[in-house]
Amino acid sequence: MFDLILRNCSLPDGRRGIDIGIRDGRITAVETTLAGEAGEVIDAAGQLVTPPFVDAHFHMDATLSYGLPRVNQSGTLLEGIALWGELKPLLTQEALVERALAYCDWAVAKGLLAIRSHVDVCDPRLLAVEALLHVKDRVRPYLDLQLVAFPQDGVLRSPGALDNLKRALDMGVDVVGGIPHFERTMADGAESVRILCELAAERGLPVDMHCDESDDPLSRHVETLAFHAQRLGLQGRVTGSHLTSMHSMDNYYVSKLLPLMAEAGVAAVANPLINITLQGRHDSYPKRRGMTRVPELLAAGIPVAFGHDCVMDPWYSLGSGDMLEVAAMGLHVAQMTSQDGMRACFAAVTATPARILGLDGYGLEPGCRADLVLLQAGDPVEALRLRATRLLVLRAGRIVARSPAAVAVLDLPGRPSRVDFVHRT
Ligand code: FE2
Repeated sequence: MFDLILRNCSLPDGRRGIDIGIRDGRITAVETTLAGEAGEVIDAAGQLVTPPFVDAHFHMDATLSYGLPRVNQSGTLLEGIALWGELKPLLTQEALVERALAYCDWAVAKGLLAIRSHVDVCDPRLLAVEALLHVKDRVRPYLDLQLVAFPQDGVLRSPGALDNLKRALDMGVDVVGGIPHFERTMADGAESVRILCELAAERGLPVDMHCDESDDPLSRHVETLAFHAQRLGLQGRVTGSHLTSMHSMDNYYVSKLLPLMAEAGVAAVANPLINITLQGRHDSYPKRRGMTRVPELLAAGIPVAFGHDCVMDPWYSLGSGDMLEVAAMGLHVAQMTSQDGMRACFAAVTATPARILGLDGYGLEPGCRADLVLLQAGDPVEALRLRATRLLVLRAGRIVARSPAAVAVLDLPGRPSRVDFVHRT
């Protein structure tokens, strides 16, 4: 009757003692005490079972290139872009594919089964586009990779970039990207947003722009993005990524901006690990945190996801594909320490980005694809606290990764011999 039953699961919505029945790669039942035969039964022992982690913002063409051809000395966004420019002529398709596949292995091991990756289209050879389209096909059985045509050097500022971007879309890239704050002038930035939104509307594609990744409070391209989303009827299909200038804007202006974004159906992606390190580099003290206003965006009804953005590349030397690390950093930087706040941070790396990416069959209802992660934690808050071990990762009902439980062996007189840091009440 079932291929697999996961018994005694805790779910992210707080339900406990739930059995999940799986057949033909799909969830077919979610009940307490599920009756019926199963080819295999796994006891979750009351631990958390969640749909997989989803990364709404990544750069897979640059990942795992740290140190090539040198490291970022200043730690700034602009030196990172310059460094990427030095690396680009040295890239080969083989190396791009190899690094991307290696990163996807890390992702699967961490229960991260869907990634939206920007891919630079400013190199007329479109080497990275070809490489990542190939990777997208290769990983399709175990990971959903969505690609954004990203004009890293500015769609107007970089000669030929608009044509390259259109060619990338013709080749099968899924989403229109942009970087208005990197254009030569504010006016060019606004014009780039208009051109790219119109292109997306013509082609029926979503938009996801790097927008206002700056400490300049006058960088207000997200306002233009919301305007064109509204004007062109793109509600629900437009995402503003980074939005760090909002951190430095005055409160009055933000009180006007957030309702405009909500009305235009624009989603937001914050990248806490990266922007806490890249932004504020020109400040003395106090140093700005450089993350957008996550609780305020959520309170305005705007979906907010957390992205990893970078792992071991010209902008960031750390990372491992662990979306719990990303969410935990977002939680700290945004001071989202209430129970509801912490649960929203968990959603920002699971259900919310799944919605932003428009993932089909994501979730825990009967009919959803049986993509699941069993965590060594009792609930989402504990998963965040422990950056919990992914005991099992399932794709379409098949185990694709397993990790041993994290346990320390103690040698203390009169004390238990093992500790796993899980809090049992
Ligand atoms: Fe980015």
